[in-house]
Amino acid sequence: MSKLDSSRQSAEINFSRSKALFERASHVIPGGVWGHNKFPAIYNPGKYPWFARSGKGAYFTDADGNQYIDYMCGYGAMISGYAHAEIDSAAKAAMDSGECLVQATELSIELAEKLSKTVQGMDWCAFGKNGSDALAIAILCARAATGRASLICVGSAYHGSHFWCNWSNPGEGRPLSDSIDVHRVDWNDPVQMEKTLQSHRGNIAAVILTPFHHPIPGPSVLPSPGYWKHVERLCREHGAMLVIDDVRTGLRLDLAGSHRHFGFQPDLVCMSKAIGNTHPISVTLGRAGLLKHASAIFAAGTFWGCSVPMAAALTNLRILHETNAVQHMDMVGQRLAEGLVGAGSSYGYEVNISGVNAIPTMTISGDQDFEYMQQFAETMVSQGSFINPMHNWFLSAAHTVEDIDTTLEHSNTAFATLKELKGRP
Ligand SMILES: Cc1ncc(COP(=O)(O)O)c(C=O)c1O
Repeated sequence: MSKLDSSRQSAEINFSRSKALFERASHVIPGGVWGHNKFPAIYNPGKYPWFARSGKGAYFTDADGNQYIDYMCGYGAMISGYAHAEIDSAAKAAMDSGECLVQATELSIELAEKLSKTVQGMDWCAFGKNGSDALAIAILCARAATGRASLICVGSAYHGSHFWCNWSNPGEGRPLSDSIDVHRVDWNDPVQMEKTLQSHRGNIAAVILTPFHHPIPGPSVLPSPGYWKHVERLCREHGAMLVIDDVRTGLRLDLAGSHRHFGFQPDLVCMSKAIGNTHPISVTLGRAGLLKHASAIFAAGTFWGCSVPMAAALTNLRILHETNAVQHMDMVGQRLAEGLVGAGSSYGYEVNISGVNAIPTMTISGDQDFEYMQQFAETMVSQGSFINPMHNWFLSAAHTVEDIDTTLEHSNTAFATLKELKGRP
């Protein structure tokens, strides 16, 4: 049996406290909710909770006391379960020794040694707080190593909210001139990448790519056969650093890095999200030859040396390894994907699950503008399965087969409601 509170199985769900908090917050917090977390509630106003109260394992409880099986996992930061007793007790022990001490701690060395040993082909670690820090450090390092400034990225990729990413996050206050050094190519198109490297010969410091393409919104796309080997060879030929942004995907495909899963070797790897199991930490990992360049750059953050997330990360990495968490996430993700495809088809919907089992993206064939996904997600949330209609989801080591089966039951109701309200696309 799933441990989800079974008393709430109705489409009538109360968000009154969440709404009241949102009204209060809008006076003191831009947009009422800051950052990523505002998005689902923006797509479906009044149909999603704005505020969370607590989390445990694979579940979280919103400000009104509604409980959910969480398939967003703090946008990937939760991998072993919320409020994990062993991980959080390691964090608390570090906190008891005093946090943010003025000098580095021995824990930072222990974690750097552990990560360098764990992630394939990587020999050193530079810590930060957010994925965006990890990318910024990798860029500095690639530029220092090559003496070049320009970058190649996939046009529809997301690499964080820093200014160099303005090409993918256009809008108020974000001039494209901030990402003037970024040349854009299409995913899975090594011929276009080769042309871009040739036409900017001698100027490209780094090619920055995610292990598979996971744009928001839209289906994820896996690398075509031979893509990674082709990209790796092009980078070597042109003397450009191959930087992998494993921020969203890291530890869910392979503890040794998603590059091992796909069979290639980058120069630099950026990770964050899942490393500290909800505790804020990021890392740029590099191969030995780049250590002297990384040592020479200036990069700093007041909280980058904090030891609490480092203690959490060390325990988290050990537990993920000991429990075969990657295989578990793959198994529950596959069960979810197959169940959703089957449930959809019994109501006449062609459900597509793209990406990988542990990081699935659901779309419905013919669903223009995500109208069907929004309705589907709304009914899922109302029953207690928290999904985002336009973003990939995340599985965790805390999701059980019973949780998946509960969610699949919810999906039957959600597809039936979709059919009743909207018919077929
Ligand atoms: C692929 C990828 N890169 C970088 C980032 C930026 O990470 P952060 O939001 O921690 O700065 C994200 C965040 O979602 C991401 O998904």
